[in-house]
Amino acid sequence: CSFPSPPRPAHFSAFSGCFADVMSTFTEVPQAAPVAVFKLTADFREDSHPKKVNLGVGAYRTDDCQPWVLPVVKKVERMICEDQSLNHEYLPILGLPEFRSSASKIALGDDSPAIKEQRVKRVQSLGGTGALKIGAEFLRRWYNGTNNTATPVYVSAPTWENHNGVFSDAGFKDIRPYRYWDAARRGLDLTGFLEDMEKAPEHSIFVLHACAHNPTGTDPSQEEWKKIADVMKRKKLFVFFDSAYQGFASGSLEKDAWAIRFFVSEGLELFCAQSFSKNFGLYNERVGNLTVVAKDGDNLNRVLSQMEKIVRTIWSNPPSQGARIVAKTLTSPELFAEWQGNVKTMADRVLLMRSELKSKLLAMTTPGTWEHITQQIGMFSFTGLNPKQVEYMIKEKHIYLMASGRINMCGLTTKNIDYVAESIHEAVSKVQ
Ligand SMILES: Cc1ncc(COP(=O)(O)O)c(C=O)c1O
Ligand SMILES: *[C@@H]1O[C@H](CO)[C@@H](O)[C@H](O)[C@H]1NC(C)=O
Ligand SMILES: *[C@@H]1O[C@H](CO)[C@@H](O)[C@H](O)[C@H]1NC(C)=O
Ligand SMILES: *[C@@H]1O[C@H](CO)[C@@H](O)[C@H](O)[C@H]1NC(C)=O
Repeated sequence: CSFPSPPRPAHFSAFSGCFADVMSTFTEVPQAAPVAVFKLTADFREDSHPKKVNLGVGAYRTDDCQPWVLPVVKKVERMICEDQSLNHEYLPILGLPEFRSSASKIALGDDSPAIKEQRVKRVQSLGGTGALKIGAEFLRRWYNGTNNTATPVYVSAPTWENHNGVFSDAGFKDIRPYRYWDAARRGLDLTGFLEDMEKAPEHSIFVLHACAHNPTGTDPSQEEWKKIADVMKRKKLFVFFDSAYQGFASGSLEKDAWAIRFFVSEGLELFCAQSFSKNFGLYNERVGNLTVVAKDGDNLNRVLSQMEKIVRTIWSNPPSQGARIVAKTLTSPELFAEWQGNVKTMADRVLLMRSELKSKLLAMTTPGTWEHITQQIGMFSFTGLNPKQVEYMIKEKHIYLMASGRINMCGLTTKNIDYVAESIHEAVSKVQ
């Protein structure tokens, strides 16, 4: 015990002698709960059953159960690799200029009046999560008067779990669910949704899924969106769109952006967090875009200057590879068309799996109604299986799905769909 003691954190001062020297500063760190969806994937990997199926993770899979690098992405990656003019210098804090400005075909539309009127700015972000994070940090600091941690933030019930985490970590103290899913009817609870908006304090923040709602696969219709926009406007609520699945809902980028474009056309100020993880298959490249639409352009430079400050302390400068791939694809008409084709390939496979799953369940006269399997859209389906049935699926059938009953339709293939359908039949027949 003759080594000199290193300086110790204050709370260890009660200890003395050798024992204190071997105590770690981290002794009191509690174990955090695992992120459910990654835990599920880990359990799946450890399972050695030959028929195991992973319906948990939110990523596209081919009919051979493999991840898919979009052919257009492969092509553009080769172009980037050959391009001698590119280097790995830092990007500007707010992102790659071509990415931020590349013809706004996707979210707002090429001919968006808001863009013509110069009332739109954007920040390149680390995925959709990063866009939500920068938006939430900005709102906490500057929305409706400064540093207002008491402003209610409404998220759909249920929602992607990270919405809660991102807004509460940004400092918001009052995060509330708004009614969205009607479990009995297996559809949208529009009445509850509208009522919760009516009851919300003016200037509350509402996080809305732009399309292909995660986890329910249930979106408002255009008529329903109109009613929602109407209340948002009247009650001066702030809309924060989360667009993570554009193209997956209908196969058409245009259709899937309808709600965003409609809200913009109604003159609402809003944020929109775009993710390119799913529709470009660029999950680990972390490509996202935060769009800010304002009533007039005058305030936008100041808004962006604050966002720049926030980005500087979080990731300082965004990565370039994914943004270059997206920008190159969007700015070339040929590549853009090819990408749309790739998106449609993914969306069509999901649609096929939906109709096959439904018809197999109907053919077996599986107890319950199954229309919702094809009524729901996007990557996910909220099956209606209860937690006990989910447990049965995992333990007895080696089919992994979220406790909420959410399944990723892309996890189904022509090879495993019979087994999955029979297992669902068995689970709902045997387990109440
Ligand atoms: C609703 C929703 N929003 C945002 C994201 C964020 O995507 P990423 O940060 O991977 O781009 C996801 C991803 O699963 C999502 O489901
Ligand atoms: C990012 O958002 C802005 C504003 O909506 C838009 O002009 C731009 O095209 C977007 N970038 C991409 C790659 O979609
Ligand atoms: C913001 O408000 C919270 C709660 O009122 C307070 O704890 C915090 O110090 C404030 N932060 C700043 C930067 O003013
Ligand atoms: C927002 O600001 C307005 C005007 O100052 C105020 O009346 C309102 O209570 C604030 N709302 C919230 C949710 O902070």
